[in-house]
Amino acid sequence: MTAPAIALEGLRFAWPRDTRDCLAIDALQVAAGERVFLHGPSGCGKSTLLALLAGVLLPRAGTLAVLGTEWRTLSAPRRDAFRAEHIGVLFQQFNLLPWLPVLDNVLLGCRFSRRRSMQAAHAAGTPAGHARTLLERVGIAPALWPRPARELSVGQQQRVAAARALIGRPGLVIADEPTSALDAALRDGFMALLLAECAAARSTLVFVSHDERLAPHFDRTLALPAFNGAAA
Ligand SMILES: Nc1ncnc2c1ncn2[C@@H]1O[C@H](COP(=O)(O)OP(=O)(O)OP(=O)(O)O)[C@@H](O)[C@H]1O
Ligand SMILES: [Mg+2]
Repeated sequence: MTAPAIALEGLRFAWPRDTRDCLAIDALQVAAGERVFLHGPSGCGKSTLLALLAGVLLPRAGTLAVLGTEWRTLSAPRRDAFRAEHIGVLFQQFNLLPWLPVLDNVLLGCRFSRRRSMQAAHAAGTPAGHARTLLERVGIAPALWPRPARELSVGQQQRVAAARALIGRPGLVIADEPTSALDAALRDGFMALLLAECAAARSTLVFVSHDERLAPHFDRTLALPAFNGAAA
């Protein structure tokens, strides 16, 4: 039996200096390949939960395993390596390197992972080939590929960040409001690409958005309540 992509129990997380928990989730399992739509009011902890799933933050209590690996058992450098190998991250602030050309920003997604480089080569001949395919599919014209990322519009940068998250077909893709800067036509194209790439790679997808019109694209919807934090 395949391990769940995400398995957590008794998860509690508090920010330093806060006396109350920001997140309290008793149990959650996401199956390999499942697509989950996560929503809830601003400030309820959606981005915090994604940072925990990505091993950027660690819970103060409870267990949290991603792709069969408990984050807590890994040292900080091994968490970074595991994330690079297995997780495509598309954060609310897209974190492109502003001075680096668009194509190289996408290639960064597999630069630190042999596994993702090999999977990108398998998908499109070479990692650069996969980067070009993904950029084309998110509608970034070849003329923009050598340009520094800072010269692109916010919506264009959001799409470059998506290509970077998808390169090398990671087992888990986590996306934080990735369509907030896109108009309706671009949003539909973007969703089609994201879902098709995740399906082709059998990647699990956890997707945060305020736009509940997107929910029908997903296998499951999870609502994080406001004031999710229980007293610590
Ligand atoms: N770096 C931080 N240090 C301290 N508290 C933080 C930090 N980041 C977020 N918080 C707090 O954690 C809570 C949850 O924030 P989070 O960003 O996860 O919300 P969200 O659900 O993603 O909201 P939004 O929909 O506005 O993006 C908020 O109360 C916020 O103030
Ligand atoms: Mg957020």
